[in-house]
Amino acid sequence: MPLRIIKSPHKMQAMAESFRRQGKTIGLVPTMGAIHDGHLKLVEIAVKRADIVIASIFVNPAQFGPNEDFGKYPRSFKSDCQKLNAAGADIVFYPSVDDIYPPGYSTNIDIGRIGEILEGTRRPGHFKGVATICAKLFNITRPHIAVFGQKDGQQLAVIRQMVRDLNFDLQIVKGPIVRTKSGVALSSRHAYLSAEDLAQATVIKRSLDLAVGMMERRIRSAKVIESQMRMMIDSVPDATVDYISFNRWDDLAPVKRLYGEIMVSLVVTIGRVRLLDNVIVNVPSWGRPGY
Ligand code: PAJ
Repeated sequence: MPLRIIKSPHKMQAMAESFRRQGKTIGLVPTMGAIHDGHLKLVEIAVKRADIVIASIFVNPAQFGPNEDFGKYPRSFKSDCQKLNAAGADIVFYPSVDDIYPPGYSTNIDIGRIGEILEGTRRPGHFKGVATICAKLFNITRPHIAVFGQKDGQQLAVIRQMVRDLNFDLQIVKGPIVRTKSGVALSSRHAYLSAEDLAQATVIKRSLDLAVGMMERRIRSAKVIESQMRMMIDSVPDATVDYISFNRWDDLAPVKRLYGEIMVSLVVTIGRVRLLDNVIVNVPSWGRPGY
């Protein structure tokens, strides 16, 4: 089927309903555009698991703070569509802000504690905006599965929590983090970085590798691992650690001793751009951790 671009939420919902009546499964990949190989990996996963793949492109004003980059967020609709088409998407859902938040719009989803920690402390209201738009996208596109990247680990956890709490009838699928050859997690915000900044950003993945290596050597103290990671990052001239955090992957509760499924996440600022990354490690009470 050639790629179709649908702008109207009503039309999208009617189409999704009709696919469902025909017995077709729907996979959704929500994005804000500026499509890169990380997004395309998620599309590839959706193509394998669903009959119809919808990629949404919507730069969601509700998840940007007043001093954030909503206005200058990279927009490249035409080339985004070409890439999504080549990756096997069937539909690009591309609504306007007015269609999503018409005058008089007032409902928001309060996700609770899981949205207030980590990124939530730096970006108040961010996950309220993310949860609300994802709930709307789920209702409009009626997917059986929705694929999210591990790159934004907390976002994935927030959406998983919302789906569980509000009985959304769909499965959330986790896609792997896609990186440049030198290990930097791809991000649409790389558009703001120089080649020199990107070279410095390689320290982020190296610090996560260091953490995993320490866990392999049976070091179980978050504090000890964090201080080694900080030392490594601080040695790079333009890299500043915003935070390094160790959380249980299932509910993001912070942990001091590392056992079970743990997300090590960090934000490093380089050239005024905040770069997020993480690794999820399964740390057994004995033996080697797996990830
Ligand atoms: P966006 O930043 O465009 O990301 C869309 C999806 O791509 C998210 O699930 C994100 O985790 C994933 N992604 C980004 N970089 C990735 C990488 N390097 N490897 C693998 N996956 C990656 O996240 C959002 O948009 C928005 O918050 C959204 C969920 C669309 C709601 O507005």
